[in-house]
Amino acid sequence: MNGYYSREQFTNRRLELTRLESAYEATLDGKPARIAFLGLRRIGKSILFDRFVESKRTAGRKGLAIVDFERAVSNPETFSQVYVGTIAGQIIGGAKRRPRDFLRLENALSTELGESKAFREVAGRILTELRKADHDQALLYELALGFPQELAEELGEAIMLFIDEFQYLMNLRRYKGIGDPRRLLKATLERQNMVGYVIAGSEITILEDALQSHASPLFGMFARERLGPFDKVDSLELIGKLAPGLGARAAGKICDYSGGNPFYITAIAQKTAGLIKEEGFDEEDGVDHAFLEEVLADWGRIFDFCYYLMEISLDRARGSGNLKALLQLMAEENQGMTATEIARLAHKTPQATRNYLLELCRFDILERERDLFSFRDPLFKYWLANLRTGIAWSTTPTRADVWMSLDQHREALKALSDELGTAKESVLREVLGLFDGQLIAGELLGAGEDIVLPKFDKVEPFIDENGEELEAVGQGKHIWACELKWRRSTAGETEVRRLLERARKIRAERAWLISKAGFTREALALMRKESVLHSNGDQLREIEKVVRRET
Ligand SMILES: Nc1ncnc2c1ncn2[C@@H]1O[C@H](COP(=O)(O)OP(=O)(O)O)[C@@H](O)[C@H]1O
Ligand SMILES: [Mg+2]
Repeated sequence: MNGYYSREQFTNRRLELTRLESAYEATLDGKPARIAFLGLRRIGKSILFDRFVESKRTAGRKGLAIVDFERAVSNPETFSQVYVGTIAGQIIGGAKRRPRDFLRLENALSTELGESKAFREVAGRILTELRKADHDQALLYELALGFPQELAEELGEAIMLFIDEFQYLMNLRRYKGIGDPRRLLKATLERQNMVGYVIAGSEITILEDALQSHASPLFGMFARERLGPFDKVDSLELIGKLAPGLGARAAGKICDYSGGNPFYITAIAQKTAGLIKEEGFDEEDGVDHAFLEEVLADWGRIFDFCYYLMEISLDRARGSGNLKALLQLMAEENQGMTATEIARLAHKTPQATRNYLLELCRFDILERERDLFSFRDPLFKYWLANLRTGIAWSTTPTRADVWMSLDQHREALKALSDELGTAKESVLREVLGLFDGQLIAGELLGAGEDIVLPKFDKVEPFIDENGEELEAVGQGKHIWACELKWRRSTAGETEVRRLLERARKIRAERAWLISKAGFTREALALMRKESVLHSNGDQLREIEKVVRRET
């Protein structure tokens, strides 16, 4: 068993691939793409780009290139060379060469890249500038950004660029003459009619802000798409590829532990398959042990990832030591705490604590709903809580240490898998996408009469300029605004009001609120008065059965 991604494992992302396909066609037609994919780390952005670009290359298309800004953006001297070299290398050099053959333009000029006039000229100008003692960093940046269009003109065919971890572009802000690096990018985008840009980023709050705050030069330029977790069908499909023959119950358990995150699914399923084969576990026990080993053992891949989140990604945040300390404290408490409660535990002032908590939201570690802060990823919370109070971590644990802790962990694991579950937002969107004239009994939607479900052309989450979100909006001849609350407490009037407000903003004719645990009496009264459709978790499941034709 090998623990790596291989291309045959690629699963799902049909909508996103279709979206990319039409963006690609439009780019070739002279209407270059401007799309941003926002998704948390390891949700599958890079794999999506790889899949799309690879399929085009296999079909003989050349004008596509992927650049990872996390690696490419250091200072303008390096960036200009890496950007131009990486793009030219992929488009002119083709797949048979290693990227590092092209990272130094000096060397690349003597390869087949030197046969391109566009490359010779841009690389030449960059190298000339670099040789000057007092070179112009802004000019280097500008030359690099201008390159793809020149290459496209030379080829006589549009180019589609995929920029991964785009938010790292802001690192160039520090350099002389560049100022806000987005300004020149904007000017470049407006000028380039033969280059499509598809960007992605893991730091979704930061990226959202970089693209969509009113002060941003790139405001309104990119259509934004969210890349979310897998639903159950896709999760099971991926599990089937990684652990062929695994029974339905064990596979369902992996779904519950992974919350639809394809990276977690991969780690747990591969480990499960190995444990069953090599250690003779029965299936369900195999899943539990695989989960614990992946999350708690310091050789586990999920452990590694959580460690990275905590130690590396947060190093760039303000006051990272204090942030980590707060997270530790919060991991050992129940979900959802106010700044004041956390401040008391941490022995800090509420104001300082609040600022730290907001910084943690900016890095997508926490999320805030009204005045309550909670972890975005329950699995990360679980990891953190066990880092201090779990097994004795002072020495490297053995496999037996980790497994022995299973009994201590059983209850926590059960609670965790309930919390993770299959991402319900994606289920909701899928259900909306299957609407097609079915007749639904009024009581399932909290309506006085039976309702004919409209067919939507598209279903997407909606985010307005203030970052306010609707989990699903169905658009077509009719517009429905939908919101989902999947937690233990009932939804109240505030939630109803908030939905109504957002629904009005987008001129939706229907608002639909779903709450797993149902609604307060006040909320129900308000929804009846305002004709808001509403369903609880069981009712949603019934509707799901009808649209999936399971009944
Ligand atoms: N569509 C997918 N099909 C199969 N595996 C996936 C898919 N998306 C993500 N994965 C798994 O998750 C891992 C992380 O994906 P990646 O694209 O690197 O995430 P991101 O770029 O969003 O951080 C991959 O190495 C792979 O194992
Ligand atoms: Mg990535």
